[in-house]
Amino acid sequence: MIHIAASLLSADMAKLAEAVKLVTGEVDYIHCDVMDGHFVPNLTFGAPVVAAIKRVSSIPLDVHLMIEAPGRWLNDYIKAGLDERDFLTFHYEAEPDPVSVIARIRSAGIKPGISIKPGTPFEEVAELVGSVDQVLVMTVEPGFGGQHFMHGMLPKIESARTTAGQSKVVAVDGGIDPQTAPLVVRAGADLLVAGNAIFRRGDPVRAVRDLREAISNLL
Ligand code: DX5
Ligand code: ZN
Repeated sequence: MIHIAASLLSADMAKLAEAVKLVTGEVDYIHCDVMDGHFVPNLTFGAPVVAAIKRVSSIPLDVHLMIEAPGRWLNDYIKAGLDERDFLTFHYEAEPDPVSVIARIRSAGIKPGISIKPGTPFEEVAELVGSVDQVLVMTVEPGFGGQHFMHGMLPKIESARTTAGQSKVVAVDGGIDPQTAPLVVRAGADLLVAGNAIFRRGDPVRAVRDLREAISNLL
């Protein structure tokens, strides 16, 4: 079963609730990109906006923290109303004590995820995979939507799937469109995050269906 997450980063920031409604019924998750201007060279929104999105969304959230020292800010995200259907994913490179952050997310009743940037070898997080519900392999340098998919990440997706087994989610984020979706699914990804390919194509509903169509013969 392949799931799709719509990244609000590419939606109209003045109409986030509308964007959520537009894709509800088509995608499986709403992907929220939290950026702090330090860990990544871009700034988006924080816990109050995540809480607001949670309030208007009937489908689960896939929260992607691209912030320095996520453990320091974790309580704000835990208090944002996330529940056992939602993922809360942070970057391995940003956190000195990932084991404790994972444990805190889990004890809050939220599904923990760990993400790695393109330059981080999968081997560095291999030991953490057993304690998370999602491994997120970045297929672009995190920070901006609309970048080109990095084909060199395909072996990393394969390693993640081999280590994770079938019980965990292997997510990919960056440059996913109907051309690249089949490549990542073949490599073992089962959660595809897409921003531009959904919200910058005119008709988001049609765009999600095009993504599903592109991988339909692989399932
Ligand atoms: C980038 C973000 C992505 C972004 C992907 O750092 O993590 O979620 O929205 O955008 P596209 O799908 O346009 O590459
Ligand atoms: Zn993301």
